[in-house]
Amino acid sequence: MLYRNGLAQPRRLRPVLIYFTTDEISANNSMTHTDLSRLDADTILHPSTNADEFAKHGSRIMQKGEGIYLEDTSGHRLIDAVAGLWCVNVGYGRQEIADAMSQAASKMGYYHTFTGMSNVPQVELAERLIKLAPGRLSKVFFASGGSDGNDSLMKIVWYYHNLIGKPEKRKIISRWQSYHGTSIATASLTGLPSFHKDFNLPIANVLHTESPDYFRHAHDGESELAFSARRANELETLIDKEGADTIGAFIAEPVLGAGGVVPPPEGYFEAIQKVLKKHNILFIADEVVCGFGRLGKWFGSQVYDLDPDMMTTAKAITSGYFPFSASFITDEIWQVLREGSRKHGSFAHGYTYAGHPIGAATAMANLDIIENENLVSRAADVGAYFQAQLKQRFANDDFVAEIRGHGMIAAVQLVKDKSSKTLFDPGVKIAPKVTTECYNNGLIARPLPSIDSVAFSPPLITTKAQIDDIVDRFETSVRSIIPSYL
Ligand SMILES: Cc1ncc(COP(=O)(O)O)c(C=O)c1O
Repeated sequence: MLYRNGLAQPRRLRPVLIYFTTDEISANNSMTHTDLSRLDADTILHPSTNADEFAKHGSRIMQKGEGIYLEDTSGHRLIDAVAGLWCVNVGYGRQEIADAMSQAASKMGYYHTFTGMSNVPQVELAERLIKLAPGRLSKVFFASGGSDGNDSLMKIVWYYHNLIGKPEKRKIISRWQSYHGTSIATASLTGLPSFHKDFNLPIANVLHTESPDYFRHAHDGESELAFSARRANELETLIDKEGADTIGAFIAEPVLGAGGVVPPPEGYFEAIQKVLKKHNILFIADEVVCGFGRLGKWFGSQVYDLDPDMMTTAKAITSGYFPFSASFITDEIWQVLREGSRKHGSFAHGYTYAGHPIGAATAMANLDIIENENLVSRAADVGAYFQAQLKQRFANDDFVAEIRGHGMIAAVQLVKDKSSKTLFDPGVKIAPKVTTECYNNGLIARPLPSIDSVAFSPPLITTKAQIDDIVDRFETSVRSIIPSYL
């Protein structure tokens, strides 16, 4: 069957879900879909949500999922081409993970890791993670999410430099357009102005250098290599201006995620790492999105030859089934912390839920699935297919300026006119309009409104046939919306 615009109708999804009708929800939960949505709007301050729009329209509430599919409480069936918030790498409803969580809960449930105490799952997990970790990383610190993972590393940067007698080395350089979290310190690192404005951020000692976004910032005729060299020079100029002995660390996502899905341009990290090494500045790789297979290798650091001194992972470590993060440091840093404890006493930092046994057991079951189903190499193979399909579908369209991405993460850059790189009027909010239409067509895609892009990061279990379905649905949606705004 053809749509009005002559496109094939998106293929029917396989009927893998059992549906509740609205009445059935009512019988099970004693509340209808509309009641739940209203109650949600009346009671919850949602993260990263327009509070006014939300108060008017309420929420879309998910009630179950299996594989790459979700169903909301109105019974609408969807492909989740974002894997939640770039995290559900093994897909929804995995019984193996539920069983592992249940066993860990019934065996003990909780025990802390302060004052030298521990639990079996966190020890087993640590050994496994350190074997997987890239480069020189050899010790792990557990927390509950990406923000507190990065926050912990920021504190360790300060603590480390104080211990080695360089207390002035406390400034941390991040990049505009990056995303590193929303705590007071990590929202400061995040290089998106809306996370600073009216929150009295960034805090002192956080600096931003320019973003690696070649599409937006390259000069006319500038090659990727030349652009990367310019970015490295700008970083060095900032370091010189501030004084290298005041800079403790530089933090970067291998592929910049929420700020636009921006892979590094050619030669970028090579040039940046040279500057960091020259000035003795620690390098923190934020692998919260890239870690655990999304780019077709275990870590983004392995894709782009990064040699980090520290690294944060979260999200896909448990495929989102349990809030959990793992931050890594090198042995060199560890030895300094150890010496510090000899001199000054305990390392006075940590969280009640650090190394939570249910989280660690969840991570172990999740890693089993990633390994047993070869999801890392599959991400490389299916990811290459995904990128190629997106490029092919929109190669001749003036409203798509580029397809960015690597492996199973991609973004479609929407523009009014490709040749002049003219963007849509910001008031149009083109990306949310497209993703709303995607939702109506049974597809969750993520709008990145600040840069008029639509992002995808499907679960790593997605097949090539399912990729076709994702691209079909996206194409139908985008072609039905764009003409009204050209
Ligand atoms: C690269 C990166 N770092 C850190 C974070 C913050 O993680 P969390 O939301 O778990 O605090 C995110 C979240 O999306 C992220 O994408």
